[in-house]
Amino acid sequence: MTATVSTSSAVRVRSLRKSFGDKVVLDGIDLDITEGTIFSLLGPNGAGKTTVVDILSTLVRPDTGDIRVAGHDLASDPDKIRAAIGVTGQFSAVDGLLTGAENLTLMADLHHLGRIEERRRTAELLERFDLTEAAAEPAGSYSGGMRRRLDLAMTLVGRPRIIFLDEPTTGLDPRSRRTMWDIVRELVADGVTIFLTTQYLEEADQLSDRIAVLDQGSLVAEGTPADLKQLVPGGHVSLQFSDVDELTTAANLLVDSTCHNETLTLQVPGDGSVPSLRSILDRLDADSIEVTNVAIHTPDLDDVFFALTARSDSPKGALR
Ligand SMILES: Nc1ncnc2c1ncn2[C@@H]1O[C@H](COP(=O)(O)OP(=O)(O)O)[C@@H](O)[C@H]1O
Ligand SMILES: [Mg+2]
Repeated sequence: MTATVSTSSAVRVRSLRKSFGDKVVLDGIDLDITEGTIFSLLGPNGAGKTTVVDILSTLVRPDTGDIRVAGHDLASDPDKIRAAIGVTGQFSAVDGLLTGAENLTLMADLHHLGRIEERRRTAELLERFDLTEAAAEPAGSYSGGMRRRLDLAMTLVGRPRIIFLDEPTTGLDPRSRRTMWDIVRELVADGVTIFLTTQYLEEADQLSDRIAVLDQGSLVAEGTPADLKQLVPGGHVSLQFSDVDELTTAANLLVDSTCHNETLTLQVPGDGSVPSLRSILDRLDADSIEVTNVAIHTPDLDDVFFALTARSDSPKGALR
């Protein structure tokens, strides 16, 4: 009944529920993550992201839910799941008193790699994560970015097929964050599946094949970054005119537009596509109204995030 099934699904979750005491943290979550892709679980602090990671990585038991990770059933085969995954948590597993190399060797021991393979793998990972020079230094002396890299290197010792990265770049400076992104992209190029949690919209946008937004126990949206951006209004074309007369005439011509007299601009809702822009300009042209400046605003993930995680008036479920 629990035999491994050949599937292209790295993670499959149905009706996952979890409460701590009487606090409902996950109120019926469904997820499907295709092998070899990057999935981001996006949500504000306290949304339940770490709880999802803890459950999928077998650290915390769900209350209910049908869960398969790497083709194995979580309820009956947690050991097989553990053997297939790697987890880099929100809080580092690095031992600050040990050197970088020692931390890696410790992991290699846990994975029973054997003396020769252990040395080979440790050297390879130090090199790959640009830690060779610092390998003999205590990890406690590392910068935040180096620590995260070492942490991830330790996760990779066991060659996991699925890697959970819980807020891997929180607190990192922009440059270290970009290094981390490059590493994540390389891992996926090698066929690994990445399950990432983040509070950073830009990060989810940059890296993910698919994103789900978690808020107050439910997924309020799920799709590609482009899908999500289409969910929110907020796209508009901004037109500027040389005087109030032209502005007013244009406003009367273009229904649904919003007039800003002080800046002589008119906001016209739209997706910012070339055809929609052309049709607007053609209509103005037909009435000989001259536009002095045009700007296009396409909605970004910030718009999505704020629209979807707005508190009590959140349009929960409506957008799935
Ligand atoms: N072991 C626990 N016992 C009680 N409450 C918990 C426990 N773990 C998490 N929570 C609560 O569950 C909610 C979600 O937490 P968490 O999954 O850490 O959110 P996130 O990672 O999105 O910030 C929070 O309100 C947190 O206080
Ligand atoms: Mg967390």
